[in-house]
Amino acid sequence: MTIRIFTIVGARPNFMKAAPIHAAAIRKGVDHRIIHTGQHYDEAMSKIFFDELGMPEPVVYLGVGSGSHAVQTANIMIGLEKVFMEHEPDLVNVVGDVNSTVAAALVAKKLHIPVCHTEAGLRSRDLQMPEEINRMVTDVISDLLLTPSVDGDENLLAEGKTRESIVCVGNVMIDTLFMNLPKAKELNTLEELSLKEGNYAVLTMHRPSNVDDETAFTRVANALLKIADQIPVVFPVHPRAAKNMDKFGLTNRFESHQNIQLLKPLGYLEFMSLVSRSKFVLTDSGGLQEETTALGIPCVTLRENTERPITATEGTNTIVGTDANKIDEVCQDILSDKGKQGRVPELWDGKASERILDAMTKFLGANEREHVKMASQNKT
Ligand code: UD1
Repeated sequence: MTIRIFTIVGARPNFMKAAPIHAAAIRKGVDHRIIHTGQHYDEAMSKIFFDELGMPEPVVYLGVGSGSHAVQTANIMIGLEKVFMEHEPDLVNVVGDVNSTVAAALVAKKLHIPVCHTEAGLRSRDLQMPEEINRMVTDVISDLLLTPSVDGDENLLAEGKTRESIVCVGNVMIDTLFMNLPKAKELNTLEELSLKEGNYAVLTMHRPSNVDDETAFTRVANALLKIADQIPVVFPVHPRAAKNMDKFGLTNRFESHQNIQLLKPLGYLEFMSLVSRSKFVLTDSGGLQEETTALGIPCVTLRENTERPITATEGTNTIVGTDANKIDEVCQDILSDKGKQGRVPELWDGKASERILDAMTKFLGANEREHVKMASQNKT
């Protein structure tokens, strides 16, 4: 019997995790379908990733769009309940930590459909972050927990999950990175932006704690404007940050700095072509902390904490927070070529998606045997 697995995606960071899982599923003859909640809906935040990463059209697109956390999460749940009831997947795979992740896990679990969480076990211990709540709730109810690194296993075991429910599969986003890097490097992005390899920084910011608060955003912006006095900075602006930059009167200040280029959100290949040839990256993103570690590029994380500590303990990441002096200090080290060196963590080898499929099929095989056993016991 063919196994039917649904992977749920909604927001930009989900797409690069789902793409290699889909490809591995097809190779193994699994009936794998992608369901898109529509949490992100702009072409630049969604469709371009499907095209570039070779993903098929989602079989269902819910189109939930934006809203408060409650509205967005509830709309995703209402939409997915119908889809799961109609299609009866054997397993629902949720990825990452966005609202679509937790919403899908809740709906599947209440319909008694087994839930797999890809990228389980990450913890920032910061409950002000909506993603931390999403991670914790998703992991508590997931049946199969696939971690990107062993710190994830340790967190889950400490929270009472069983050893059998956890498999360290490595970092699936790095599968996408390694597969697409040659294509990304062929692009003329640097020439188009008049940048020189190794002589510019890439900046991204979209965390509510940084961009929704005027004082915090202005403080970080001041620090960044100072760094741009020394090195060109290229800043693809997330819609949330763009809105608030306008609101707080920061757009003009960035735009009028001759060393700063503000860009619309970029597709995966263009963005990776920029990141992979940069001197360093400044970011509050989660995924970018991992991608820079895999690429050996110094990363300055503009957050007080990280759910991906391995990028700091083993990789090239430095967690600096939003203090202007600290940001400057770390950037000065990098600019004088004393930036952090790192190594690529174990199992970030481009083969995580294969291990994910193996773990899922093994889990479903064991589940099937358990059901048969229970059914025969009920007959006697
Ligand atoms: C979401 C995720 C975050 C992830 C980020 C990546 C949650 C809680 N947060 O945050 O973990 O790092 O995606 O981008 O799930 N908007 C657009 N066009 C779009 C999508 C959003 O203009 O295609 C606007 C919305 O109108 C909204 C804002 O951007 O005002 C934020 O969108 P939302 O999906 O709520 O959260 P993100 O900040 O993108």
